[in-house]
Amino acid sequence: MAARPLAIVSAMHEELRALLPALSATQPVTLAGRHFHVGVMHGEPVVLVLSGIGKVAAATTATLLIQAFDARALVFTGVAGGLGAGVRVGDVVVARQLLQHDMDASPLFPRFEVPLTGRSRFAADALLSVAQASASLRCMARATELLGAAHMADFGITDPRVHEGLVLSGDRFVATAAESRALVDALPDALAVEMEGAALAQVCADFDRPFAVLRTISDRADESAHTDFNRFIVDVASVYTRVIVSDWLDSTSRATGE
Ligand code: ADE
Repeated sequence: MAARPLAIVSAMHEELRALLPALSATQPVTLAGRHFHVGVMHGEPVVLVLSGIGKVAAATTATLLIQAFDARALVFTGVAGGLGAGVRVGDVVVARQLLQHDMDASPLFPRFEVPLTGRSRFAADALLSVAQASASLRCMARATELLGAAHMADFGITDPRVHEGLVLSGDRFVATAAESRALVDALPDALAVEMEGAALAQVCADFDRPFAVLRTISDRADESAHTDFNRFIVDVASVYTRVIVSDWLDSTSRATGE
């Protein structure tokens, strides 16, 4: 029987495009309008796919990866808006917990709680997250070599860091300082906000499947959040994703003795 693949889910085309050249023995599979790229990357069986944007798209994608491909673990890569103090553009956040910030069935259930689960926070897999954070640290140490001094200066990136903690997801692009302040007031330990991670987390919890969420900070979730968004994904986030995912797959492959 073929080995179960690791699933790598990207939010944006540019990131997927940066990963695809490293994939060999590629077999395309189309399901539910999604193009799954099944193959081998750095010695590991993988399936790469674009999630689409938002919680429903991410939940459908995660369900397909588990049900149709029997993915043994899922890693989501993308960008996020920084919320926590000191979480800056060009940093990486590895989620340890994820929460849907737009879930609110109060007063029937506490705000943020996913009704009938008794939970608002869904934990990422500890080992997989440590592996992502370690690969991210090695990537950050090479940031100037990887991005080039000009791009670093362009985006105001100096001394990029790796953070681990709470990531919020919701079906909104957060683009005002007032909204990000309200999120931090309600959830003071929130590090970053994006649009898919907590949905993937809920599906993985349902199926008891390990997952990690890795996000490059593209903006501070304020009025300038959309400026340079696409250029940042091409020049910074896609580079980080390619390097971090390759490093992680190399270490996984070494650890399993392949
Ligand atoms: N992804 C990247 N930046 C974001 C933001 N400000 N809000 C939601 N998702 C994002």
